[in-house]
Amino acid sequence: MTTDDPRFDLPGMLIDGEWSPTGEHGLAAVRAPYDGTPVAMVPAGGPRDVDRAVRSAVGALRRDDFPRSERVRVLEQTAAALNDRRDHFAKAIALESAKPLKTARVEAARAVETFAFAAAEARTFTGEVVPMEATAAGANKTGFTLRVPVGVVAAISPFNFPLNLVAHKVAPAIAAGCPIVLKPASQTPVSALLLAELLDGLGLPSGWLNVVTGGGSVVGNALATHDDVAYITFTGSAEVGWAMAAKASRKKVRLELGSNSPLIVDFPSDWRTAAAKASVAGFAHAGQSCISTQRIYVHHDLADGFLDELLPRVEGLVLGDPMDEHTDVSCLITRDDTARMREWVDEAVAGGAKLLTGGEAVDHGVFRPTVIERPPFGARVQSEEVFGPIVTVTRSEDFGEALQLADASRYGLQAGVFTADLGKALRAARSLHYGGVLVNDVPTSRADQQPYGGVRDSGNTREGPAYAIEEMTERRLVTLQP
Ligand code: SIN
Repeated sequence: MTTDDPRFDLPGMLIDGEWSPTGEHGLAAVRAPYDGTPVAMVPAGGPRDVDRAVRSAVGALRRDDFPRSERVRVLEQTAAALNDRRDHFAKAIALESAKPLKTARVEAARAVETFAFAAAEARTFTGEVVPMEATAAGANKTGFTLRVPVGVVAAISPFNFPLNLVAHKVAPAIAAGCPIVLKPASQTPVSALLLAELLDGLGLPSGWLNVVTGGGSVVGNALATHDDVAYITFTGSAEVGWAMAAKASRKKVRLELGSNSPLIVDFPSDWRTAAAKASVAGFAHAGQSCISTQRIYVHHDLADGFLDELLPRVEGLVLGDPMDEHTDVSCLITRDDTARMREWVDEAVAGGAKLLTGGEAVDHGVFRPTVIERPPFGARVQSEEVFGPIVTVTRSEDFGEALQLADASRYGLQAGVFTADLGKALRAARSLHYGGVLVNDVPTSRADQQPYGGVRDSGNTREGPAYAIEEMTERRLVTLQP
């Protein structure tokens, strides 16, 4: 296979240091969402494969044969090798997830950063000295903490960032010294398997990384409920995530879930930049990002100018094949999702919303980038996570009303606020219940070293290598006395 070959010849799934060419349920075809062409055949795993993988991870933890210096080496070399093979990975991402090639390249470059930051953290993270003698109970004692691995990590990753959201789970787990069982999204296992092949080739001892593909929620459930899993890191829908947490009360369950991210455009502000950024941020990867810009609240004095700036840009986005260098927006992950877009737009329009552009499917499951004004209260394009190329625009009376509307959500991942007033920026930062408040930026922005995660239904974790390593290690107190 050359890097230009769209088909991927994969060795199978990785369990206990061996590549299994088939799973409990044989093989499953991965098809390109855009045109249905075959991308790869992967094992269709089942609960027995999960059990083998978890037992292998437990064995790795017991053997303790992957010292920290080796983990640093593997992480650093993975970053370098990924960097060398960025184009190859970008093609895999684009084919299996229908992410346009130019955006897939950004994801591949980001995965390099994720491994590089995990490597840097693996070199330096440490416990602390505890001032034992500060109380009578600690007299004559010297105390410090060790940061020890939490145990076997189960990682369940989504389709929308098939490489970098795997990297955000695998790299910190390696840094922390936790063996991993990874279940990539059934639609997009190819990038994850390519990454596993790369890690395996760098001398990862057996059992430290296991990958079970296929099997959908059956495999996910078997993994999340396995007695020997200590820690679950899940990225996906709020419904699935919180149900998983409810079933796993004795484990640490870390959830990075969805949102219906708001953007406030206040007066005065650099609203032209806001419009330009929103025209990308609402539609990148067809809106299939947890931080896609979905609800825009624009000051009524600016609204007409803002829309005049936004709409031509949205209408100018190039739709089509993800493998075409010029494509900005391709298809949704399934045709059911494309149909759901139409249903949600119709619901909003029937309730009195104005369709400003888009609102229809074109070829190959691509949904035309859509902007809707004045969505009625309770319309799903506003109250739910759309996870598609639809943006709503609501005119706000003043900054106070915009804050209140932006905060009126069951989600809370990231919010964006454009304002020229520092006082208002700080007021937004203090009052919006979100994991991140980004001033003079859209919510659709993430640097891979930042703490990333939400509150309310959006989750209970902060990813980013340093933060994930913190969560994947436990402090063990050691005291010494003569
Ligand atoms: C996500 O969809 O939560 C990931 C967004 C990103 O990493 O850019």
